[in-house]
Amino acid sequence: MDVLVIGLGYVGLPLAIQAVRSGLRVTGYDTSEQIVAGLMAGRSHVDDISDADVAEMLAAGFRATTDEAAAGPQDVIVICVPTPLSEADGPDLSAVRAATGTAGRLLRSGTLVSLESTSYPGTTEEVVRPLLEKASGLTAGIGFWLAFSPERIDPGNPVYGFRNTPKIVGGLTPSCTDAAQAFYAQICDQVVRAKSAREAEMAKLMENTYRHVNIALVNEMAIFCRELDIDLWDAIRCAATKPFGFQAFYPGPGVGGHCIPIDPNYLSYKVRTLGYPFRFVELAQEINSRMPSYVTDRAAELLNRHAKPVNGAKVLLLGVTYKRDIADQRETPARPLARKLLSRGAQVSYHDPYVPDWQVDGQAVARRTDLDAALADADLVILLQAHQAYDPAHLAGAARLLLDTRGVVPDAPHVEAL
Ligand SMILES: NC(=O)c1ccc[n+]([C@@H]2O[C@H](COP(=O)([O-])OP(=O)(O)OC[C@H]3O[C@@H](n4cnc5c(N)ncnc54)[C@H](O)[C@@H]3O)[C@@H](O)[C@H]2O)c1
Repeated sequence: MDVLVIGLGYVGLPLAIQAVRSGLRVTGYDTSEQIVAGLMAGRSHVDDISDADVAEMLAAGFRATTDEAAAGPQDVIVICVPTPLSEADGPDLSAVRAATGTAGRLLRSGTLVSLESTSYPGTTEEVVRPLLEKASGLTAGIGFWLAFSPERIDPGNPVYGFRNTPKIVGGLTPSCTDAAQAFYAQICDQVVRAKSAREAEMAKLMENTYRHVNIALVNEMAIFCRELDIDLWDAIRCAATKPFGFQAFYPGPGVGGHCIPIDPNYLSYKVRTLGYPFRFVELAQEINSRMPSYVTDRAAELLNRHAKPVNGAKVLLLGVTYKRDIADQRETPARPLARKLLSRGAQVSYHDPYVPDWQVDGQAVARRTDLDAALADADLVILLQAHQAYDPAHLAGAARLLLDTRGVVPDAPHVEAL
């Protein structure tokens, strides 16, 4: 089986390697010269995929290309391109449209096209289908197969990877679902059939929205629990002992990555076409996006209590990625937080084993590589990402003043949890 993966990023590359390992002939197409050149030179740009993994793919015959003509024809085409927000905060499907154009030109009778990019329910049928039919002259469900299969990749997760995470497939027709099931059954352990593409699209957004809303719930609780003198972290620890009906979510400095801050907007966009808002998502968005400001205020308050103004204070940010133990900085809340601290005159530096250089609004932020020296220098340390490289007890011992946004540092007079 010949498989083309369009978009070789956090979603496409892990899929490509799994398909190669399952014995399929895989080509990767990406519009980025840099990414394609890197992969062909054996370099991975994605967390969880090592250079050795890329070497293994190349040895098994994988090729990456920016040349559409060199990419086809194919039995299966999987679209894994970005779905960001437009300036008006609505869906930006330009990459999906462009990739669909590529797929349409490369598909032949009997090809399966699977969309993995997260988008609002109806995208596969209303956006992808007409473009494919126009470019190919074939009809979906008769001449070729079309399905949506949401990616559930969890970067940095040591237990669940592509293979052992159940894969949802929803086709335009039952035959499309059959074709998608037959393909994905070769590369992952369990395939879950959705009623149609719309339910598969909705399932993905439901998963993301569920996390978004629950994180907002605990973030809002964190703010009022502090005023009520309640240790929310301890309350969550206690509540989490209930063996049923409760799942623990934890407060933090804000949400990052793609799935939480961006994807639920795709759903609220779709709901708004009905003439009313999706209030839960919009409220969650508002609460989560306010967290960097809240952390800045807490930092200022803490410094003030120790007779230090923010203006001129040396503030060290620990962990500036959006998630622990990965290098991805997309939508990281560390950036708005640093922006706010800088605007108040703080001298901001950062330490992060995964981030060699870091900019905020085009300005480089000073990187500290010697953790102990950085901790000793700082008037205030803010723990943003509890990377495994950070020993919480050591941080408590070495920092003069510490704001712990992850609730992992042991209690001490100079340590404050969010
Ligand atoms: N990163 C995650 O953890 C994750 C998890 C689940 C779902 N998703 C979804 O998967 C989709 C892809 O996300 P990602 O994180 O892999 O993005 P990414 O930015 O890491 O990778 C996308 C790749 O597509 C390429 N590209 C853009 N336009 C193209 C085109 N027209 N043709 C070919 N290549 C093109 C880019 O150069 C890039 O290499 C998004 O819809 C995202 O919401 C991401």
